[in-house]
Amino acid sequence: MTRQKFFAGNWKLWGTQAEAKALIAALATGIQGSKHRILVAPPYTALAAVKQAVKGGPILVGAQDCSALESGARTGEISVGMLKELGVDVIILGHSERRQFHNETDKLVNDKLKLALKHGFEVIYCNGETLAEREAGKASEVVIRQTKEALAGLSEADLGRLTIAYEPVWAIGTGKTATPKDANDIHQVIRKTIAELYTKKAADAIIIQYGGSVKPDNVKELMAMSDIDGALVGGASLKADSFLAICTFDK
Ligand code: 13P
Repeated sequence: MTRQKFFAGNWKLWGTQAEAKALIAALATGIQGSKHRILVAPPYTALAAVKQAVKGGPILVGAQDCSALESGARTGEISVGMLKELGVDVIILGHSERRQFHNETDKLVNDKLKLALKHGFEVIYCNGETLAEREAGKASEVVIRQTKEALAGLSEADLGRLTIAYEPVWAIGTGKTATPKDANDIHQVIRKTIAELYTKKAADAIIIQYGGSVKPDNVKELMAMSDIDGALVGGASLKADSFLAICTFDK
């Protein structure tokens, strides 16, 4: 089955409004006519500027997280309603940096996922093992557990608005990429888990991105793998030339 490739730039803690506008302007021409889906996820403070800058073009806008509550006493958090008002299309949830530095659990990620879907968003749900877990031979086990916990209570119809990003923690920002085969093996494990939880049809259709030091010089071999359907890109999404090279890897 052919799945449309999906490339997403996670800007993390980068991007003033001025930087964001300049980067979108530099991406716009190169991205035109792309047959792939393209998304940028700036910090909250640049979302409005980015939404305005991408207007009329194909680039989707993502937020990097959201609160698990619709409203209430959560100093510093941003609600799904606030993101909706800004015209955000997609919310990234469960990123390993949220898990590591903000103690997010699979249960919390599941709560956020259900809330985001209920409010009509698409979600990029991230999972992946740590170096210690990989070295202990537990990569598959960890990713299966994370996937099951994240998807608890979701219907097969919900999966139509869900992308999974497999991001081995040890490959993020380190310059170490999983080999295309190692990444593909885990993508197949995730797809098999979806088939067991839902149907083969749902498993065949779901988009699974790879993330972790994706660069212009390794994107081609990763995208050549049977079960890798795009990438969630950090560092290389902050420069127009490298993100464009990734998004147009097959041109
Ligand atoms: P890098 O591409 O900088 O390794 O980051 C990957 C990532 O965490 C994307 O969400």
